[in-house]
Amino acid sequence: MSANRPSVGNHLGDGSGIHHDHDDRHCPHVHCHTTARRDAPFPVTICVDGACSHPDKKEHHISSVALYDGTRLLGEANFPSGTRGGEDPKAQLEVTFKVLPTGRSMQLKAMAYCTQHGLWEGGTLDVSVEA
Ligand SMILES: [Fe+2]
Repeated sequence: MSANRPSVGNHLGDGSGIHHDHDDRHCPHVHCHTTARRDAPFPVTICVDGACSHPDKKEHHISSVALYDGTRLLGEANFPSGTRGGEDPKAQLEVTFKVLPTGRSMQLKAMAYCTQHGLWEGGTLDVSVEA
């Protein structure tokens, strides 16, 4: 099992640049094996699980995460506020998709959307796909 944990994530939301102090609580990380079998269900987990937890309040929460292979959307999950701890500062986010690998490789990447801080992109994790 491997995970992408870039030292700095990308804040794509408002064009004001990268906010380093918020990276740890917004950046989504992809967790999965680095090899997969073609056309066999392959679990991929997205976590927003940095050392600093993200709020889960009505006016400020992570409302969705999405999984991409390059630019191809593989899955998306939406979260209403209050479903991951509400006011509890330990609220964390984790979701697992099962994808069917095709081709020879995948470049998996996750995105997360915060209702107050916009869109965040994690690093890319390369997966080899074997026949
Ligand atoms: Fe936020």
